Amino acid sequence: MIYSSNMNNHTLFSVLIAIITILSVTHSTLATEVSQDGRAILINGERKIILSGSIHYPRSTPEMWPDLIKKSKDGGLDAIETYVFWNSHEPVRRQYDFTGRNNLIRFLKTVEDAGLYAILRIGPYACAEWNYGGFPVWLHNMPGIELRTNNKVFMDEMQNFTTLIVDMVKKENLFASQGGPIILAQIENEYGNVMAPYGDAGKEYLNWCAKMAVAQNIGVPWLMCQQSDAPQPMINTCNGWYCHDFTPNNPNVPKIWTENWTGWFKAWGGKRPYRTSEDVAYAVARFFQTGGTLQNYYMYHGGTNFGRTTGGPYISTSYDYDAPLDEYGNLNQPKYGHLKQLHDVLHSMEKVLTYGDILKTDMGNSVTVTSYKYNNISSCFINNDNTSVDATITFQGQNFTIPAWSVSILPDCKNEAYNTAKVNTQTSMKSKISNEAEQEPSSLSWSWRPEIISSYVKGGIGEFSADVLLEQKAVTNDTSDYLWYMTSVNLDDKDPIWSEDMSLQINTSSHVLHAYVNGKEVASQYAQGHYHFVFYQKVNHFRKGKNLISLLSATVGLQNYGPFFDKTPVGLTGPVKIVGKKSNNEVVTKDLSSETWTYATGLQGLDNKKLYSEDSAYALTWRNDRDMPINRKMIWYKTTFEPPLGTDPVVVDLSGMGKGEAFVNGMSIGRYWPSYLAGKDGCSLNACNYRGRYDNNKCVSNCGKSIQTEYHVPRSFLRDDVNSLVLFEEFGGNPTQVNFKSVRTGGACANAYEGNTLKLSCEGRYISAINFASFGNPTGVCGSFQKGLCQGPNDAKTILTKTCVGKETCSVDVSEEVFGAASSCGDEIKRLAVEIVC
Ligand code: GAL
Repeated sequence: MIYSSNMNNHTLFSVLIAIITILSVTHSTLATEVSQDGRAILINGERKIILSGSIHYPRSTPEMWPDLIKKSKDGGLDAIETYVFWNSHEPVRRQYDFTGRNNLIRFLKTVEDAGLYAILRIGPYACAEWNYGGFPVWLHNMPGIELRTNNKVFMDEMQNFTTLIVDMVKKENLFASQGGPIILAQIENEYGNVMAPYGDAGKEYLNWCAKMAVAQNIGVPWLMCQQSDAPQPMINTCNGWYCHDFTPNNPNVPKIWTENWTGWFKAWGGKRPYRTSEDVAYAVARFFQTGGTLQNYYMYHGGTNFGRTTGGPYISTSYDYDAPLDEYGNLNQPKYGHLKQLHDVLHSMEKVLTYGDILKTDMGNSVTVTSYKYNNISSCFINNDNTSVDATITFQGQNFTIPAWSVSILPDCKNEAYNTAKVNTQTSMKSKISNEAEQEPSSLSWSWRPEIISSYVKGGIGEFSADVLLEQKAVTNDTSDYLWYMTSVNLDDKDPIWSEDMSLQINTSSHVLHAYVNGKEVASQYAQGHYHFVFYQKVNHFRKGKNLISLLSATVGLQNYGPFFDKTPVGLTGPVKIVGKKSNNEVVTKDLSSETWTYATGLQGLDNKKLYSEDSAYALTWRNDRDMPINRKMIWYKTTFEPPLGTDPVVVDLSGMGKGEAFVNGMSIGRYWPSYLAGKDGCSLNACNYRGRYDNNKCVSNCGKSIQTEYHVPRSFLRDDVNSLVLFEEFGGNPTQVNFKSVRTGGACANAYEGNTLKLSCEGRYISAINFASFGNPTGVCGSFQKGLCQGPNDAKTILTKTCVGKETCSVDVSEEVFGAASSCGDEIKRLAVEIVC
């Protein structure tokens, strides 16, 4: 287009209109139209089956994202769902961070590059076992604020952040309406679960959330999860282990499952959750059987809570979640593979599931046949909800056996393509290989130094004083886990409490409390189960005259869920008392709660001097002498190491350590607490039974043990040569057992049914041997398989050795053609059991 300088205004206007028209036409051809009806989400007018999985970008590294997303796509997902984490992006009001693991745009573009859709849960309240549910603590400290209710101060901040995110995303054309990957967005999170106590103000807030979201004009539908009264046009969705009984509050929106919990999170001192592949698959199949068309796994990859990002309190650093991709991004088999097969079958039925007529036939005994008919296609689901009895039914002249608590899917209503209880995917066993470069743990050489606390425990020196016990968040703004509360009290023998037997009694909502009197440690205590406890300890060294009481209160992740969770106090709630017991058993107390308390936020080495940092000015203050203290509180340890060779994920084993925070090359890999052991009871000795409803207490393991001894060190944190590991040990530990390991597949087992093709893989390594193979009715479990009474005449082990050994992956048809006719198996479906070594 040529502009002549004498172009008049009218011509200029016409030219501009022409340009705008061209742009908008080009734009609309790029745009993806997302709409919905009572059956499904429609993409460009077509109803879709959408299988999605949650990956929270700050819980892995940008270097891991492409692989995680590729594996998600290979696993049969169409979309990736993530929250947006407000407190990571706006740690200080109006100071933003979108770098590194917080690079939301890079994450969304990685999803886009892989050809997947994205579901963006802006919240900005997240929950997610994330520190304070994702809220920045400065928000809580704003004058006049009330969170998650009809409060102008809060709503202004929420709108400000929501708009900031929407604008950033729009600028990069990432909404589907702009041609980008984001097909849905979410406002708030499960407000419906907690809303009642907020009364009318809660309802007003909810309506405001909807209006505010709509005004963002993002061109794709908005979701509200667990919100049965979601104002239109918000689509209310379901979260839980099962959502087949869910019905949305509007007949013109589809049945959407935003959180299918693939397992559960872990907590310090807790047991290890485990949800079987059979049960997750059952829940998914039931959802699609009952008209669901969009579901999201929470989590598909759980990842790691680096730094101080865990919520809770007491959520562990690992957020593995027993998800299909494990904490490090490896396939969690058989969950990943079993669900992948289900996804393939569901996708193959997309048209009939989203457009077909649905007919439900109750077969009695908790068995239902649901058939979908579209044009000349008929597809069926047959579920057996019975928790113990298998069912044999006759349907359209054919017999079908449906194992208890399972769903069979028959894309043609005749042949079973999938049954949720028949796992034909290998179970991989991960081994942790000690660092080849270092060999023995003892080869790490350690230096150390104490955390200097004398100015608090001997000097009582702080930043300011107040005649009241202050709430911890209000003082620290959560810039540190630690807050010192210090006061002086004059005692003399005329004091009514003065006696031989004097104690400190402290009512506290600290997660951990360390008490010192006159520079000497009294004791430490931590919350177990309830996050309010009474610290009661005898103190033998109160003296006449001035006594200094120094109390160090620590948090271990701020609460992230519940009505008014943000108001749960942390720190010394009080009262703080000295209790004197006279020889005549008379008890006298002196309340110190309204004394003058001096406050200091943080620890000097951790928060001020940053001793973990690579360029710390205090590098020379470490000691290399032989007197390294072991099992002493408040000690820093430092070592250097070479990383394990190769590209396998790396963990550092912190067995022997107490509680603290670990840093690799100056970066926090999270809090550690291996010394906190889970209760001894509640783990079943028998194998986990997938039948019956799952909850997070079912099938737990690891009783009496630490929930986490191994901590993920992302490869991108490491240099090829020398790296540093710095540990701040709060409780006392022994670093001599600390060592680095790489995580790899050590072997795998499979139990595949006749008629399937079994794929075996060492996931990047070679299959080195076949330990066991038998086709027929083998018994036992992985590691102790045994041949059964019937078996095929051809030696299964020889066949598998020939087909698989020396290869990364191999496939074998589980059939009589391959293994020969196995006689006297009766009606039993024949299986191939295999154990491979990598
Ligand atoms: C849900 C919540 C998620 C997560 C989950 C448990 O209620 O929406 O954010 O906290 O529970 O892992």
